[in-house]
Amino acid sequence: MNGKLSQKKAPLAEALARYRKNRIVPFDVPGHKQGKGNPELVEFLGAQCLSVDVNSMKPLDNLSHPSSVIKEAEALAAEAFGADNAFFIVGGTSAAVQGMVMCSCKRGEKIIMPRNVHISAINALVLCGAIPVYVNPGANEMLGIALGMTVDNIRMAMDENPDAKAVFLNNPTYYGICSDLEAVVELAHSRGMKVIVDEAHGTHFYFGEGLPKAAMHCGADMAAVSMHKTGGSLTQSSLLLTRSMNPGYVRQILCLTQTTSASYLLMVSLDISRRNLALRGCETFARVLELAEYARQEINKIGGYYAYSTELCQDQAVFAFDRTKLSIYTRNIGLAGIEVYDILRDEYDIQIEFGDIGNILAIISVGDNERMVERLVAALYEIKRRYAKDPSGLLNNEYIAPQVILPPQNAFYGEHRFLPLKESSGHVSAEFVMCYPPGIPVLAPGERITDEIIDYIAYAEEKGCLLTGPEDATLATVKIVEG
Ligand SMILES: Cc1ncc(COP(=O)(O)O)c(C=O)c1O
Repeated sequence: MNGKLSQKKAPLAEALARYRKNRIVPFDVPGHKQGKGNPELVEFLGAQCLSVDVNSMKPLDNLSHPSSVIKEAEALAAEAFGADNAFFIVGGTSAAVQGMVMCSCKRGEKIIMPRNVHISAINALVLCGAIPVYVNPGANEMLGIALGMTVDNIRMAMDENPDAKAVFLNNPTYYGICSDLEAVVELAHSRGMKVIVDEAHGTHFYFGEGLPKAAMHCGADMAAVSMHKTGGSLTQSSLLLTRSMNPGYVRQILCLTQTTSASYLLMVSLDISRRNLALRGCETFARVLELAEYARQEINKIGGYYAYSTELCQDQAVFAFDRTKLSIYTRNIGLAGIEVYDILRDEYDIQIEFGDIGNILAIISVGDNERMVERLVAALYEIKRRYAKDPSGLLNNEYIAPQVILPPQNAFYGEHRFLPLKESSGHVSAEFVMCYPPGIPVLAPGERITDEIIDYIAYAEEKGCLLTGPEDATLATVKIVEG
């Protein structure tokens, strides 16, 4: 450990505590003036919270150009995660993902990636004009989900596209599946390509034992880490980690889209959560893992459901599985994942992360205990008893391989017109359609609309998925590329 740094410190939290104590008279924004101007908000959120909802000022540093307490807090985060540099992100992991893509590719340059990425990655391609080279992630036929990219498939994509600038990976996917990141890093670096990693669901990899390896520990160049997902910080706060990148350039890229009024609530939550993870992360995630294993065992005992785990690693496209993920295949009880999701919410007051066509995902994290897990298990048992039916006729395919016709930016900004969705088969989409969550586009700009996609969208709608992305929110029509 660098002699000057101590993970017991939280420089930003300490600076905010000093600010609070100093009783500064605020003639700056925010106009609620430490809550005084908005008593209802104080009542709702608490005076402590509003007293540090401040804007940047000398003693509190500035996220656009950190030189004191934010700089120190970021250095501590970098050390805790084994990175050269860490950047506090206040626009969600979406902003971190976009930052990574825009740091590694410019307009017209190629990036090798799986297609089962979060929409933020393809949005980045729309913004910067990079060209995706999609590698088929493979699929588990029974579960209907996309897996990871194999090293062989990535090598083939590199052979065919030696001018590609970067490889993008999920570590893990929403469902918990990881590719062989270490091998991909070695391969990519030997060809002068960067490796950038979406670790929205992998914060705990940096601290747990018996978990898949984290991007920075595998030598990747950049990683977008959702501290707010499993790291304990406030929603929307995230980290961008880098190694061997020019930090000044990364900051410039982030500032292209970053707010100039970064929330201190979000930033201090990153600082305090990093300290917590550095000091107690190992024992916390050991406990999380134990809980997830217990839940998986109990759910598999019910029968019908399938809570999967490392046995999936027999497939080449599953190098490792994140055992803290409680991903459950529901189709065999005759219910789509989204139906189980809705029943859990509406009838059992249990909110899980998502339900898709054939699976549900429950996040087990720092804040859970055995009693909560037992409630979930009991509810799933009941749901099976009350609602199980013949599964025939249920769709099983979460992932449809795309037919890419145009780069996303060209399709998004090109000439277009609207067509009824049902009549759009064969045309090229100018927009996104996806179920949220998980936020992986079914259709992205530049991809051909097929009968299979139209059927999938109709089925997802019928089952109650939230479909987002298109300009026409009713999805009666879809925007297609003209010509
Ligand atoms: C794989 C993946 N990447 C990126 C994101 C974006 O994260 P955020 O919602 O913090 O912007 C998500 C969000 O769910 C995600 O699942």
